[in-house]
Amino acid sequence: MYQQLITKAVKAIFNDSALTDCTPIGAGFYGKVYAVKLSKPPYSAAIKIFFRRGDNEKEALWYLALRRSGIPLPEIYGMYDEGEHGVLAMSLLKACSATDTSGLTCRELDKLGDEIAETAVKLHLLKGSGYGDITDVSCLEGGKEDSWTEYYRIKAKKAMDNISRAVSRGLLDRRHENIYYRALDAIDIAIDTPSYPALIHGDLNTDNIMIDKKMSRVVAVIDPISSMWGDYEYELFQLDCASGKAYGLLDKYAQSRPLSDKYDLKSAIYSAFAEGNHYCNINKACDDNLSTFIARLDFALNNYGL
Ligand SMILES: Nc1ncnc2c1ncn2[C@@H]1O[C@H](COP(=O)(O)OP(=O)(O)OP(=O)(O)O)[C@@H](O)[C@H]1O
Ligand SMILES: [Mg+2]
Repeated sequence: MYQQLITKAVKAIFNDSALTDCTPIGAGFYGKVYAVKLSKPPYSAAIKIFFRRGDNEKEALWYLALRRSGIPLPEIYGMYDEGEHGVLAMSLLKACSATDTSGLTCRELDKLGDEIAETAVKLHLLKGSGYGDITDVSCLEGGKEDSWTEYYRIKAKKAMDNISRAVSRGLLDRRHENIYYRALDAIDIAIDTPSYPALIHGDLNTDNIMIDKKMSRVVAVIDPISSMWGDYEYELFQLDCASGKAYGLLDKYAQSRPLSDKYDLKSAIYSAFAEGNHYCNINKACDDNLSTFIARLDFALNNYGL
């Protein structure tokens, strides 16, 4: 529990407000989230504590970029830093994660699925002036790179280096590494220049979509990670993760925006590199989840004779 840190953060962000209640509501690899009650307006907030200083500023920046798309997001109240930790305070949503589908009827799943898919489409319709990472406010309207394929090739190469290091630490095996090397060689064939740089959330699965079950509506999208300007198909595999299949998210998205011809190959590459890189970053050994992404990649490469 980070009672002292939260008390100080609340005081600094909310005009000397006292902390009257604090309950943990979420925990991930990079941070922990608490619901707090305050003695002064707005009387409640969600406090996200990051284990790495600076990660709060990055998330706040990605929220700023996402806000321009008009999708629903939590309000950001402020930030606080102390030692290794960064704190981000935002509005406390009266909602639950869309991954929790318990009690939803088929009709409600369908309606929510339509809304979630529409939200993803709306996000991806925002056009940037260039491709690449969102590293500071100068990237809020577009990245600094002219070519997606060039940018992605470098990104995948960095992930490959990370994956090879994980292989030498025994987290993945050589068979996996060889499949990744084949994918790296296939990038020029598989990945085309998209029609425009689209805004990418970075972790757009149902865990990070907050819903109101009673009203069957999307309340907000949360937890952007490494948001960037890129190919909108980059993160569509996320719509099939967590509870995405139960809502039929990928099909619903594709009804609004048909998928490209080589979507299966492209998405197999994007997803295996993104997931593999994430596992390496958090020092996690290959499990069934990552094995499935790598097996899909192998299958797609074989299908295209690559
Ligand atoms: N503003 C908010 N209002 C209500 N609940 C929230 C809010 N922000 C986060 N939560 C809850 O906390 C959970 C974790 O939050 P979040 O997704 O931001 O972090 P995480 O996935 O644990 O972090 P990370 O992946 O960055 O380590 C969410 O799934 C949600 O249930
Ligand atoms: Mg999350």
